[in-house]
Amino acid sequence: MQSNRRVFIKSLSAASALAATESLAKPFGFPAIIPNLAKISPNDKIRFATIGMGIQGNFDTQAALRNPEVELVGVADLYDGRLQHAKTAYGKDKDLFTTRDFREILARPDVDAVLVVTPDHWHDHVTIAALKAGKHVYCEKPMVQHLNEGKAVVDAWKKSGKTMQVGSQRISSAAFQEAKRLVQAGEIGAVNYIESNNDRFNAIGAWEYSIPPDASTKTVDWDRFLGDAPKHPFDAKRFFRWRNYRDYGTGVAGDLFIHLITGVHFVTNTMGPTRIFSSGNLAYWKDGRDVPDVMSCIMDYPKTDQHEAFQMVLRVNFANAGKINDVTRIIGNEGQIEFSENNLIMTKKKLPIAPGYGGYDSFFTFTEPVQQEFVKQYDAKYPPETRKAEPVKEIKFEAPKDDDAHAKHFGNFFENVRKGSQGTVEDPVFGFRAAAPVLACNESYFEQKVVYWDPVTMTQQSGPASAAPEKKPGATAKKTTKKA
Ligand SMILES: NC(=O)c1ccc[n+]([C@@H]2O[C@H](COP(=O)([O-])OP(=O)(O)OC[C@H]3O[C@@H](n4cnc5c(N)ncnc54)[C@H](O)[C@@H]3O)[C@@H](O)[C@H]2O)c1
Repeated sequence: MQSNRRVFIKSLSAASALAATESLAKPFGFPAIIPNLAKISPNDKIRFATIGMGIQGNFDTQAALRNPEVELVGVADLYDGRLQHAKTAYGKDKDLFTTRDFREILARPDVDAVLVVTPDHWHDHVTIAALKAGKHVYCEKPMVQHLNEGKAVVDAWKKSGKTMQVGSQRISSAAFQEAKRLVQAGEIGAVNYIESNNDRFNAIGAWEYSIPPDASTKTVDWDRFLGDAPKHPFDAKRFFRWRNYRDYGTGVAGDLFIHLITGVHFVTNTMGPTRIFSSGNLAYWKDGRDVPDVMSCIMDYPKTDQHEAFQMVLRVNFANAGKINDVTRIIGNEGQIEFSENNLIMTKKKLPIAPGYGGYDSFFTFTEPVQQEFVKQYDAKYPPETRKAEPVKEIKFEAPKDDDAHAKHFGNFFENVRKGSQGTVEDPVFGFRAAAPVLACNESYFEQKVVYWDPVTMTQQSGPASAAPEKKPGATAKKTTKKA
């Protein structure tokens, strides 16, 4: 299997980008070399193509198109029905270019940028090929499928000079921007704990997406879909419900934890956790999937110059038949921020200096004279003003009704494309630092171990930093094995 992957990568990278351009250029009459694109004037349209026009591919395309002066010029997908659907949905007034082979998109000089909205196992390959071909890239989350794939994407991005945005669009929402402002202003004190649950109990929510009745090897490019994944006979369930299989997806961690982690990294300016542990179970959706439907994880974020140490605890339960009460909270030592849909509520609470006595306390167990002496000393130490707690304050932030995080996330991407800048809000370094903890969750779950991570050097470690003093900062990490 490993050799399959190597052969595949070799052939893909050889075929990608310019090489692909050369071989494909002739039949399509394109130039052999795609020049790197410079700034694009505000009056010129940014022309983009979507690679992977499934559910999110459509939502991404529509969100991108809600920005001015951008145009969809091509679509690649592996199911013919989706290419036909794209032609009717987006190509009414023009002949939209469609193909099963994304390399044909990369070979087109009329494409400035691509949206990579394929299943997770294709993200790194398509992104790297696109950057090499001189395209700007918007890549869906998680940026890569395995821990050891991030560096190649970061390197390709740096080398290309192109703009890249990773697609956890919620950090472009007004609520997350406000949360960042509040945390950075010290409004909730030092963050010490972050928690979030994201439960569901329905088939679609548990990724049992509809399968079109015409799905077959005629309408689906199954071999291309497999890519570097192990060979497998055609299976429409695997193609249309790929999230349920480790070969193509990243489970609940890559699908759902990633959004919160991205938000937390944005709000706290952290680089990431150093210790990650997860556990779970396949409790209910035993439909052939090989990923858990119940998962919890604990991550330790050490103190840095940006924040105190904090812990993050995340949970997904797709089999919660009880009352679903999802919460996402950032807790500090002077208050907390709780997200609710697009809004947030900040509760502020500051303890008085005086600790108090009595109640469920040892005070009553003292003898009378000792109690009197205690009170005397207490009164001397704590004058009345040190005994007052600040009243609990609740401050609500309501996002503007028309806040469109998804379009804004694309707006930030396009703005940087126009400027010829690599400074997007979720560039690949940020994107990989957010993806790594979720990929570590999967490794922790499947290999039943604690995963140690160096978020600064973005490398996996063999043990905790303190237990491995011989390790120098930046020492090469133990490689995460790509799937065989
Ligand atoms: N940002 C978000 O909120 C969000 C939400 C949902 C999904 N996503 C991400 O979007 C991506 C796609 O998810 P989805 O739900 O749209 O999946 P989907 O199965 O609905 O669509 C994926 C499409 O990619 C196509 N595809 C697969 N391999 C391809 C290849 N090599 N070249 C061209 N097309 C290819 C398939 O034909 C399919 O139509 C995933 O990475 C997912 O994590 C992000």
